[in-house]
Amino acid sequence: MASRKIRTMGDEILRKVAKPVTEMNLRNKMLIKDMFETMYKAEGVGLAAPQVGVLKRIFVMDCSADKSRAMALINPEILETEGEQTGDEGCLSVPGKHATVTRPMKVTVRALNEQMEEFTMTVEGLEARCVLHENDHLDGILYPDKADGPLIDNEAEEE
Ligand code: NI
Repeated sequence: MASRKIRTMGDEILRKVAKPVTEMNLRNKMLIKDMFETMYKAEGVGLAAPQVGVLKRIFVMDCSADKSRAMALINPEILETEGEQTGDEGCLSVPGKHATVTRPMKVTVRALNEQMEEFTMTVEGLEARCVLHENDHLDGILYPDKADGPLIDNEAEEE
């Protein structure tokens, strides 16, 4: 496994629409392993393939504190959303910043797992926010596009 370089806002690749994955092969397996490693190393809760420069419809996430909710979603499709939540959001591709973003409270998503088996799950709260944020990355959308207000500097607020 290897940690990969995270692309940051301004990099063109983050604005492109990623392509569906057609097969699971060694290259894609390595990509997913590397994405988990990169996400955990950067202390993020989600990471999409375009963020490491690969235009494939894959994202990984783990919103738990103990790495117990590691999930890889391939070719995800948002089937349904419900409710609303307004909260703080950040992104590994927008380092040192955060902003308030309003998103659905609950989401049902269908995707393929690492074995290319279809599954559907419904998640809420932070996990719903994460699924929607990462899914946006696959369409070239970054959270500042949807933020309720301006980006806030993390350090400025800690002072
Ligand atoms: Ni992000």
